[in-house]
Amino acid sequence: MLHKHCAHRRASLEFARIEQRGIRCCYHGWHFDVDGTILETPGEPEDSKIRHEICQPAYPARELKGLVFAYMGPPEATPAFPYLDSLELPGHDLVPYSIHSPCNWLQETENAIDPFHSVFLHGRVNGPQFPGLEHFVELPVCAYHRRDAGIVYSHARRTGDLVTLRFHDYLMPNLAQNGGMFQKMSQPRVFGRTSLTKWVVPIDDTNSRKFGWRHFNDADEVLRQGKRDAVGWESVGFYGQTTGRPYDEQQRNPGDWEAWTSQGPINVHKREHLGATDEGVALMRARLRRDIRAVAANKPIARPEGTPDAPFLTYAGDTILRIPPSNDDRALLDQLQRTVAEIYFSADALNGEARSERIRRDIAARFPTGVEVTS
Ligand code: FES
Ligand SMILES: [Fe+2]
Repeated sequence: MLHKHCAHRRASLEFARIEQRGIRCCYHGWHFDVDGTILETPGEPEDSKIRHEICQPAYPARELKGLVFAYMGPPEATPAFPYLDSLELPGHDLVPYSIHSPCNWLQETENAIDPFHSVFLHGRVNGPQFPGLEHFVELPVCAYHRRDAGIVYSHARRTGDLVTLRFHDYLMPNLAQNGGMFQKMSQPRVFGRTSLTKWVVPIDDTNSRKFGWRHFNDADEVLRQGKRDAVGWESVGFYGQTTGRPYDEQQRNPGDWEAWTSQGPINVHKREHLGATDEGVALMRARLRRDIRAVAANKPIARPEGTPDAPFLTYAGDTILRIPPSNDDRALLDQLQRTVAEIYFSADALNGEARSERIRRDIAARFPTGVEVTS
């Protein structure tokens, strides 16, 4: 990945020509290698030294499933790649997408660790916005499970005899995975997986761009919403995620995009009044401050790192159990999500199908009647 403006006189390399090796500026034909070395300055005298004296700023980049990742820090501190287990889930078709938000990156990132906004924005205030997730209107019982590289959080809700335990990943500093979207919540399931993986990347203080994948799959997107070819630049194929709707429609039925961009170009934290339901936001801000201090002091921080053979393990997705209500049902829901989280984490030595099988086996052993599917 090269700096946009040419080292010669700053014409944009977006209009440059891709060469067999590197790229050639459209303006005066300077030819750059992929690492920024100048290979040719064709209009300059034969004996010109200029190409040895400067280079085009460049960063190593890697393409993966339609997204390009670049590392822009000091080369000696290059971290391992954030290769997640969710990149290779059986039956998942990952479709890349990217959406701009005219606000600070933290606002959208915080939305992903705020399970209570779903109750109101996607339910009680505006009516249900996501098919299959109508139960969001119930106030959940939440638990935040602290992990080295971030926070896994769960929210539990009851619908009759069924308890939905929905897990999300927040990974430092800007990566999040949702639970399954658009599925049928009408019967037990164990260790459902994510259907959305996304990074919110700052462009500057007041602009950000999300890059991620929709996971089209039959297990967790049963009610398949959005078309594969409607997911891409400025579109993710479900409600309320982008700009461009008429203003009166935004007002009548605002979505996530209206919520996080309307906090302003940079939300002013000292003017907020956080309540008990903002525990996730407060936790992630504290974690972020801790990591910022560590980076400033040249200390290591935990981050999601992995390889295709040893991917970074994630947990986002749904487990639904058939468990009758108790007298103190909120305490029961809390206990259930903590027990299931422990079972998830206890399989961390495994990955892939072996891990999923172990988790399914242990949950079935712990809740033998909870996982029975009745017709
Ligand atoms: S500005 Fe690029 S070659 Fe002159
Ligand atoms: Fe939302």
